Amino acid sequence: MIDDIRLDSEQPLQHQLYQRLSERIIEQRYLPGRQLPSSRQMAQDLGISRNTVNAVYDQLKAEGFLQSRAGKGVFVHEDIMTAVNPAGPGRDKPVSGGMKLPPLPALPWLKTKRVEDASLPFQPGLPNLDAFPIRSWNRILHHQESRRSLRGYDSIQGYQPLRRAIAAYLRTSRGVRCEEHQVIITNGAQQALSLLAEVFLRPGDNILCENPGYRGARNALGRFGNPLIPIPLKNEVLDVEALPGLAPARLLFCTPTHQYPMGGILDLSQRMALVQWAGQNGCWIIEDDYDSEFHFYNKPFAAIQGLFENAPVLYMGSFSKTLLPAFRVGYLVVPEAVVEPVLWAKQISGGETPLLTQATIAEFIEIGQFTRHLRRMRQLYREKWQLFQQQVTAKLGGLVQPVAESAGMHLVLEGEFDDLALSQWLKAKGFGSTPLSAHFLGEQVRTGLVMGFASANEREIEECVTTLRSGLEGHRHRRGNRVS
Ligand SMILES: Cc1ncc(COP(=O)(O)O)c(C=O)c1O
Repeated sequence: MIDDIRLDSEQPLQHQLYQRLSERIIEQRYLPGRQLPSSRQMAQDLGISRNTVNAVYDQLKAEGFLQSRAGKGVFVHEDIMTAVNPAGPGRDKPVSGGMKLPPLPALPWLKTKRVEDASLPFQPGLPNLDAFPIRSWNRILHHQESRRSLRGYDSIQGYQPLRRAIAAYLRTSRGVRCEEHQVIITNGAQQALSLLAEVFLRPGDNILCENPGYRGARNALGRFGNPLIPIPLKNEVLDVEALPGLAPARLLFCTPTHQYPMGGILDLSQRMALVQWAGQNGCWIIEDDYDSEFHFYNKPFAAIQGLFENAPVLYMGSFSKTLLPAFRVGYLVVPEAVVEPVLWAKQISGGETPLLTQATIAEFIEIGQFTRHLRRMRQLYREKWQLFQQQVTAKLGGLVQPVAESAGMHLVLEGEFDDLALSQWLKAKGFGSTPLSAHFLGEQVRTGLVMGFASANEREIEECVTTLRSGLEGHRHRRGNRVS
């Protein structure tokens, strides 16, 4: 008779019974040689089927917990203690209550709280999920799915037709100097940043970062504890003139075509000065070209990567905004000598990017769908941007100051309020945002909200601004705290 076992009828019974019995044997509550009830008796006691009990007994016998004795029944295995306590008889204390985890290493640079982004309207970085041409995507996916060659391994560097399509697109639309062998497909821009940190940084190397700037870059590049040196902004772009006064650095992260999050655009002379300074000072520039497809009135400035031959620029882009973040596909364009080291790093930290997704994106680009989709989204985001600005002016005039170029998928609403608390309050109302103060290094912060309007529809834009008005009344004149 077993009277210390209870099963939850809502959970899988076989799994529960297996766990209850094996735990009791390991913890020596059922000692070697103890007889267990017959399967019929056990089934009756527990109110479950005999087949379930037999399946569990068979499993426990196969694993060495139990043994049958002909004509007598089922017993806890006589030798079970050698398996449970391989260190031998000296260690006769019963193993109970699980194990104590060894301590984690101290991570001094992770002083900030990690945040999970949700797919809420106004979440910065989120494209319009409903406007994605899912039917034509599915058609292409279906076509690619049937190809046997896409079912195995392919290449760490990325699917060749996709690299070819990206290289052609970047040459014509972004002025990037590249051939397909310089393109490396990554699992989003985030992996590109981690790989660059791994390849380029040694202990003590400094990293220059725009301040305020992109937290994803700061977190990835700073993960080995290398010092992050803030570059101040001037007129909402990286202040190129401040560079000679800062400590020498191995890497410089920037968003020259649409500063993240403030939205400024480096002009041609600033771009030239930046690349020349980097070349003269042995510093590699990481150029994050994250949303250059969405400039509403003018063609965006060409990438700084293409300004000079052999410019020390590591160019990165992502399909998270131009297609969907869920695909987790981005790309790097690097000088030839950098390709192999990055591929080594990629091979040992995750390996290939999902092949079927790569092949589907390649065909999506090749048949012209990508260009059509971008054209539609540029128009759609321009309309949303206009509506959002209009709403902000009409309902929040005097409470916040919109900071914007006519580009991108987000707008900063700057103002004197506790931006962390307001952002959390807004989240509880169903709207995403990030506090502007969280994008700053150091104590000197500006406060505001970074609002991603691309993911919101017309009704949500109007509702969010109305909601924000009441939220602003309750959160004025307090400073934000830091989150990662
Ligand atoms: C500045 C910036 N760079 C890059 C990305 C893309 O990151 P990922 O490709 O990892 O989704 C984002 C996304 O929000 C971004 O804001």
